[in-house]
Amino acid sequence: MKYYLTTPIYYVNAAPHIGHTYTTMAADLVARWKRMQGYETVLTTGTDEHGQKIERAAKAVGKSPQEYADTISAEFSRQWTGLNLGIDRFRRTSDPRHHAVVQDLFRRCKDNGYVYKSAYTGQYCVSCELYVNEAKPGDPCPDCGRPTETVTEENFFFKLSAFQDRLLELYDKDPLFIQPETRRNEVIAFVKQGLSDLSISRTTIKWGIPVPDEEKHVFYVWFDALSTYMSAVDGEGLWPADLHLIGKEIVRFHAIYWPAFLWAAGLPIPKRIFAHGWLLFENDKMSKSRGNIVRATPIQEVMGADALRYFLMREVPFGQDGGFSYDALVGRYNSDLANGLGNLVSRGLSMVQQYRQGIVPAAPSVAENVAEAARNAIAAVKTHFDNFEFSKGLEAVWGMLSVVDKFIVEQAPWKLVKSPDPADRAKLDTALYTTVESVRVAAVLLSPVLPESCARIWAQLGLAGSPGDAGIAALDWGQYPAGHAIGAPSAVFPRIDAKPAIEKMRELEEAETARQNALVGKKPEPAGMAEGVAPIAETIDIEAFTKVDLRVGVVLSAEKVKGSDKLLHLKVDIGEKQPRTIVAGIAMAYKPEQMTGRKVVIVANLQPRKLRGIESKGMIVAASLEGGQPTLAGFLEDVPVGARLK
Ligand code: MSP
Repeated sequence: MKYYLTTPIYYVNAAPHIGHTYTTMAADLVARWKRMQGYETVLTTGTDEHGQKIERAAKAVGKSPQEYADTISAEFSRQWTGLNLGIDRFRRTSDPRHHAVVQDLFRRCKDNGYVYKSAYTGQYCVSCELYVNEAKPGDPCPDCGRPTETVTEENFFFKLSAFQDRLLELYDKDPLFIQPETRRNEVIAFVKQGLSDLSISRTTIKWGIPVPDEEKHVFYVWFDALSTYMSAVDGEGLWPADLHLIGKEIVRFHAIYWPAFLWAAGLPIPKRIFAHGWLLFENDKMSKSRGNIVRATPIQEVMGADALRYFLMREVPFGQDGGFSYDALVGRYNSDLANGLGNLVSRGLSMVQQYRQGIVPAAPSVAENVAEAARNAIAAVKTHFDNFEFSKGLEAVWGMLSVVDKFIVEQAPWKLVKSPDPADRAKLDTALYTTVESVRVAAVLLSPVLPESCARIWAQLGLAGSPGDAGIAALDWGQYPAGHAIGAPSAVFPRIDAKPAIEKMRELEEAETARQNALVGKKPEPAGMAEGVAPIAETIDIEAFTKVDLRVGVVLSAEKVKGSDKLLHLKVDIGEKQPRTIVAGIAMAYKPEQMTGRKVVIVANLQPRKLRGIESKGMIVAASLEGGQPTLAGFLEDVPVGARLK
């Protein structure tokens, strides 16, 4: 039995952050779970290295795209190893073995009549690497809001339109093909609107895989990127994949384009696509330009990789969006891991140590309510983990742990041990065995989520191998060998003091940002500023601000300043007896006739200045991005002339 699953291949325009880690950790969880069920599991990931965005990013720091990609790709690979994520194959799109697979896929599609050449003029979003079909020149990209660029070129087109009915039939016949349900509905609605053919090559980009026999063309990123799922396991007989685990923003490409490409090539399609939600930080999508990125390594250093895995899988119902915060992370760690699981382990083992010299006694009877709680937790985990409901599965295990806690309190072994009554000694043995056995079962159930910690718990139980290797067969109650000696106990989840831990993580996070920037030769950017947005000026006090006199004015007349393309000569009434003369550099954005009668904001106490021989007494307030056109400040409501802004 094989189980082949994939993560998306990550763009090399940014080093790994916790969002990428989230997907890869979830994939590792699924892989471990499947392995425990006896599947020969293969998990692949990799890096998506081609395209204009990378070409540009590399150029900006004076590197070749290959050099740039090498650096970031190595970061991803190192990160996964460092986090103990069991990646079986790591495929880069710049790998020649991958090129061959993409070219072969193309040839098959072409031979089967699904590819044609045509001229295309359209708006293209460089950032999202997508044509925005409905956009007009100058329109922003609907996804990222950045301006689109007009592109005309000869492209190879893929006949996506030919697959509309077949796709709808697939979604209908196999309701689990796209999960969760919300994503499936979105895809169905999208396909029902009608599918246009897809441009799959570019002549404007050099950094890409050449289209066979067409030197000018390189493959469009999605045709290239999706093929990694095949090239990563080329020749291994693993295709089709059992699962593509992805983030929700790339469902369309996986659930529509990918099956269509494969059908066109006469190849089998993947069995399932599961899209998880976004991990938000401070209620916002993490992004480099917003400067609100969190990375896994600082968290790992302070709290361990398992703590992060547990938090992500427990806190956020898989499939939905969820928030990440350091406070919540430490809070959950302390309540669930330190006080919950960790406390139970050390309590159980130290009782065995103290009352039975480290030898786990046989249980004279079965503590039925605990055994039943374990059976329920096992059944729940099996169902929920199989359905990608990790959070629910974990909740069920903690439900079992609380039954065990209650059982210990009820039995009060510390009292039983003092009693000479043989019935109490038997009760004590049952209590000790039951506690140890519960810990053993919990370690097996939790090992896909907490692999390192459960292996440590296993060793403390004195058991050989690892709970992961023991697999689901080890879940049946009563397998702890009575009379066996436990190992040396030590705290698996020591309590963490929130404040210093969070400070440390933030500190390490800053150092990590600087390290990653240095890696690609990037100068540090002022925090929080998007590209092209000027940094916030030095802080001033309120007195300094009140010195600036901003007034509402109305433009009485406007004309172009002779000999200048940029300047308009304005007469502005700001409530003084005489109108002011103001020369403003707005002629590229506003015609004189657009200005008359318009309400504007004026800096009224600015030192007068001569521009082209005209004395300008004040400045008009406008917004612009660096190098962009000015847009005048104005009001939605009517405001009286002369009103001061403060
Ligand atoms: N290269 C494409 C995917 C090609 S797959 C054939 C791409 N790369 S990416 O670097 O942008 O990574 C996207 C994936 O990273 C998402 O689908 C998701 O799995 C993960 N995440 C990145 N940021 C994330 C969050 N903030 N939250 C959750 N997951 C996120 O798209």
